[in-house]
Amino acid sequence: MNLKGKNFLKLLDFSPEEINYLINMASTLKLQKKQNIPHRVLQGKSVALIFEKTSTRTRCSFEVACSDLGMTTTYLDPSGSQIGKKESIADTARVLGRLYDGIEYRGYGQEIVEELAKHANVPVWNGLTNEFHPTQILADFLTIKEKLGALSGKKLVYMGDARYNMGNSLMVGCAKMGMHFVACAPKEYFPNEDLVNECLKIANETGAKLEFISNPNLATKNADVIYTDVWVSMGEPDSVWEERIAKLLPYQVNAKLMKNAKKSCVFMHCLPAFHDLGTTIGKQIEQKFNISAMEVTDEVFESEQSIVFDQAENRMHTIKAVMKATLYGE
Ligand code: CP
Ligand code: NVA
Repeated sequence: MNLKGKNFLKLLDFSPEEINYLINMASTLKLQKKQNIPHRVLQGKSVALIFEKTSTRTRCSFEVACSDLGMTTTYLDPSGSQIGKKESIADTARVLGRLYDGIEYRGYGQEIVEELAKHANVPVWNGLTNEFHPTQILADFLTIKEKLGALSGKKLVYMGDARYNMGNSLMVGCAKMGMHFVACAPKEYFPNEDLVNECLKIANETGAKLEFISNPNLATKNADVIYTDVWVSMGEPDSVWEERIAKLLPYQVNAKLMKNAKKSCVFMHCLPAFHDLGTTIGKQIEQKFNISAMEVTDEVFESEQSIVFDQAENRMHTIKAVMKATLYGE
């Protein structure tokens, strides 16, 4: 297995063996970190971190992972560069490719990160686009393996708007790894047909099962994992809140729903989550719509079944594996 020089733009570009290889490498790197075994194999290299949308986990994971691998970073914030406004993506890629050994991009359309990769001449990593969030899925799958022992055959139910980056990427990841993926949402919130068809073809080869179900009780029966995400994603206008709340409230992950799944079922969320009134947006939504939690209740979020902070930690170990594999190899 050799991923040196490759981009990491979406899971569709990787085989199940390659995905497994990255997860296993992350697991080794995690152990090394816990045992204080240095792994500065990329000493002296540098990475550019482009964030056209905000971030806590992804940015910090890249920065800590780079530091552990011996690399330096430059953070370009949503307003701190010429990208897109005064300089095209292709020109930006050619400039940064001369200065850096790798480039992370978080932003809008998937076509932007693909364009960046086409011109950069160094590995480009997708830190989230509207369509995909592939480093998140690696972290999620490492976490599932740690908690449930395997990926293949496990039933993962994604509750909520499945048309966006998390629904799409989980569907692709589950198809690749031979899992049972269920998108549970109103019909109009199912992932787009082209992507579903592509994933069905993959599922045919891997033995994965994909289902699209609008009834939450039916969908979550025997689930090993119940997963959800925010109802309104970064970059979407505030005007969509009203429709999302009306359509997705029946899909909120609550204690009753969790009881419907397997006893061993875990709750997952890529975070950040609206589970209480501890955020400005959470408070505004409460005043306007009279709800104190959105995609998940505080009870579930804080429960023993919730493994959201293990997921968050694993962002760093898996991002480190992506950079090590694509810059160093082995
Ligand atoms: N899950 C995730 O990508 O979190 P951030 O937006 O904080 O990076
Ligand atoms: N769907 C969310 C994921 C955040 C990690 C968003 O794009 O805002």
